Amino acid sequence: MITNDIQLCRDALTNGELVAFPTETVFGLGARSDSKSAVEKIFVAKDRPRNHPLIAHCADIDVALAISPGIPQSARLLAQEFWPGPMTLVFKRAKADAICDESVGGSDTVAIRVPSHPVARKLLEPLGFFVSAPSANRFGRVSPTTPKHVLEEFGEKMLILNGEQSEVGLESTIISCVNEHPQILRAGAITPQDILRVTGHDVTKGSDEDSGIRVPGALKSHYAPRIDVIIIKSEEEINEYPQFNPERSALLSFSEPTQRYRLQRSMQTYEEFAHELYSFFREAEKNGCDAIFVVAPEEQGIGIAINDRLRKASAYCTASL
Ligand code: TXA
Ligand code: MG
Repeated sequence: MITNDIQLCRDALTNGELVAFPTETVFGLGARSDSKSAVEKIFVAKDRPRNHPLIAHCADIDVALAISPGIPQSARLLAQEFWPGPMTLVFKRAKADAICDESVGGSDTVAIRVPSHPVARKLLEPLGFFVSAPSANRFGRVSPTTPKHVLEEFGEKMLILNGEQSEVGLESTIISCVNEHPQILRAGAITPQDILRVTGHDVTKGSDEDSGIRVPGALKSHYAPRIDVIIIKSEEEINEYPQFNPERSALLSFSEPTQRYRLQRSMQTYEEFAHELYSFFREAEKNGCDAIFVVAPEEQGIGIAINDRLRKASAYCTASL
């Protein structure tokens, strides 16, 4: 059920129930971080492996930074500059009741985020506990960017706090701050250039698969829609896939199309592209498209995160093998 009643949602969280809520990145599925039984409900609802750690959210930057002793200076600078916002910082974890072992999958680190979305802030501000929240989708599916997407994933029984379509549209940048030199674990709206500017550290994104750090977002198949996603450089490249009829295909690109598609949208900016990407995937599925063609942006700005998600979405695509 989609509701505007924030107090109802706060009460549900306080009572150890799940609440899906809007953030500026994607919608989250929240439970109080200090309750093993509440957090367990997230893993059950999502069908998510227990060893995949959750991000703990709170409204207050000082509270967020107090969760770990010995936070490096670079992390403080990042927090100062980009919180509240679409960034998650991973810290060394001190055993604390505020964030239960189960919510971090037994890890010795903890991922923290202070979101900027006004509704998320209103929800979290008075709570007095952290809220663990993965994206509000079933494990391995496309992240939701509207309340309706969450409803499609979990049905009417799920309490969903209403909000507009997530502004960024892609999950937060995850930065490991376990050492003074930060490391990007997942690309997002906060870019390597942003991090360099603020901390002086050059973080060219290492491969998550090599780092040995367990991040489901780093799995090749994550974020996949149920139909083939094919990354192309320009619309003409579609001719190389004669098995797909344009009338049964979707195209997301930067310029007006030269032929008719079942579903087509052209974006003006990378930001708009990121904002629309996941909802376009879902629409293409609903419209019964056989393939989603996407013209990839350049590897710059949020284009880095878009390309990361496109690669993951197309990992199981048979047509481009
Ligand atoms: O934008 C976002 O980050 C959204 C909103 C709701 O905040 N959340 C989100 O959560 O995308 P989720 O669970 O779908 O993805 C979180 C990622 C996972 O890949 C998880 O492995 C990683 O964060 N993660 C969580 N804790 C971690 C830790 N201690 N060390 C390394 N990675 C961690
Ligand atoms: Mg997710």
